[in-house]
Amino acid sequence: MDKIFITGGSGLLGSNISKLAVSKFHVYSTYNKNKVSVRGVHFFQIDLAKKDNLDKIKEICPDFIIHCAALANVDYCEEYPDEAYKQNVLVSGYIAETAKKIGSRLIHISTDHVFNGEKGDYKESDPPNPINIYGKTKLEAEQKVLSIYPGACVVRTNIFGWNKIARLSLAEWMIDKLTNNKELPGLKDIYFSPILVNNLANILFKLQETKYEGIIHITGSESCSKLDFAYKLAEVFNLDKFLIKSVSIRDIGLKTPRGKNTSLNVSKAEKILREHLPGIEEDLKKMKRLLKEGYVKELKHG
Ligand SMILES: NC(=O)c1ccc[n+]([C@@H]2O[C@H](COP(=O)([O-])OP(=O)(O)OC[C@H]3O[C@@H](n4cnc5c(N)ncnc54)[C@H](OP(=O)(O)O)[C@@H]3O)[C@@H](O)[C@H]2O)c1
Repeated sequence: MDKIFITGGSGLLGSNISKLAVSKFHVYSTYNKNKVSVRGVHFFQIDLAKKDNLDKIKEICPDFIIHCAALANVDYCEEYPDEAYKQNVLVSGYIAETAKKIGSRLIHISTDHVFNGEKGDYKESDPPNPINIYGKTKLEAEQKVLSIYPGACVVRTNIFGWNKIARLSLAEWMIDKLTNNKELPGLKDIYFSPILVNNLANILFKLQETKYEGIIHITGSESCSKLDFAYKLAEVFNLDKFLIKSVSIRDIGLKTPRGKNTSLNVSKAEKILREHLPGIEEDLKKMKRLLKEGYVKELKHG
């Protein structure tokens, strides 16, 4: 079996990738502040912002690296731009240097926030134009990674799913509100095209086999507003739709600017992977099945 090294293994994406990789690879994964473990995964505590710590990756010499670690909190990045630069740009550069040096395939995870959200349905050929610090640092990270290691693959995405740690992801926050009979504000004027992290993980395993180099968009194949996402979620999870209140981004006074429609066009990925990427309802149904089948219990406590 090949060796895979996953950064950000305590995060939403990295923890699910780590768990799902066990049947396919020898899995090595990292956390920093949130100590976690997953059955079958060799976990290390590493602060990736300290370059010398990356010697651990050289020691393991993995065949394949997925770099998920990032400072992904949009408001926090806006408030602490120097830290965002360090965690998102510098760390990504260190990972790219390391991957190139040891000849490891690299998938670098990026975001739909590299676009300003004026248009939506963005293709890989559309010029990025981020409007917040998070998006700017993620774009700079993409450029740094590809300039250091042109053979790397940059995956722009937007995700939802079950978190390993106690922090609630967007979908979990919605489920929590509706389950506890609390009103749920749904943004009617913010559009996205998220993919369930479990499906993204399996697509990344397949993508690395194609040896694709450069930027690729991998999200769900459908876009919707966050309000419609909440409605679809309520329907699939049999929760009370009437608790969902339509609100505008203007009404909730967010500090950080956010793009109105950052949905991504996935036709290139569908062609390369020779498969149709999932729609939102399909992914939400799978998210519910994961709960029923015990996956979520294992993820959170395994
Ligand atoms: N969540 C979304 O909606 C979304 C949308 C589009 C793209 N993305 C991208 O997808 C990727 C994964 O996002 P996510 O939501 O899974 O993030 P997340 O849940 O916030 O997790 C971030 C991970 O990065 C780790 N990390 C941060 N700084 C580190 C450092 N200095 N050294 C080592 N580890 C460090 C964290 O470790 P500790 O917690 O242990 O400190 C955690 O494991 C990111 O690249 C993000 O930009 C996310």
